[in-house]
Amino acid sequence: MSTSQQVNKVKFTKKLKIVPLISRQRIRKKVKELAGRISRDYKKKRPILLCVLKGALIFTADLVGFLKIPVDIDFAWPSSYAGDQKSSGRIKFKYGPQPALKGRDVIIVEDIIDTGLTLGVLKSKLNSLGAKSIRVCCLLDKKARRIKKVILDYKGFGVPDKFLVGYGLDLADKYRNLPYIGYIK
Ligand code: IMP
Ligand code: MG
Repeated sequence: MSTSQQVNKVKFTKKLKIVPLISRQRIRKKVKELAGRISRDYKKKRPILLCVLKGALIFTADLVGFLKIPVDIDFAWPSSYAGDQKSSGRIKFKYGPQPALKGRDVIIVEDIIDTGLTLGVLKSKLNSLGAKSIRVCCLLDKKARRIKKVILDYKGFGVPDKFLVGYGLDLADKYRNLPYIGYIK
């Protein structure tokens, strides 16, 4: 049995309690607000939104829906959590940012910044690919656990040092479908 299968088995034999933290209404309002700021800042530009899979999928989709400017969409798929509640700090890409990002304005779209390690690795990749500019749009900022200093250009909510799920965020691929964000008790 692989490690992630073992984790799944342990986690899903007992029912976990999810405590609601951010309602779908508050999320929606915030996403709209962030999209408004991006639309103004990138007027007459056509940035690439780089959705960081899988957690930022729903956030990215909603964000795009509120934008008033044309954008391109691309994906990066790092893996470091492997079904665990703590970051292992080892970041690999299952699907990396593409060379076509060269010379483009890139906005990294992340669900949550925790240690900042993933973002650090991603930004240096984008720099080495020759992105023209790089900004970060993240819905959640878990500042207490930051290891790598990062600048968050568009930020939704500061959140406590808890393991969060819902609105795309998962624990071993579960709970992504919750319309609100909550933490595991
Ligand atoms: P970092 O490299 O530690 O900043 O971790 C970034 C990634 O870890 C995020 O994009 C998430 O996918 C995942 N992550 C961090 N904290 C949480 C959490 O509380 N719930 C679910 N995923 C998380
Ligand atoms: Mg993520």
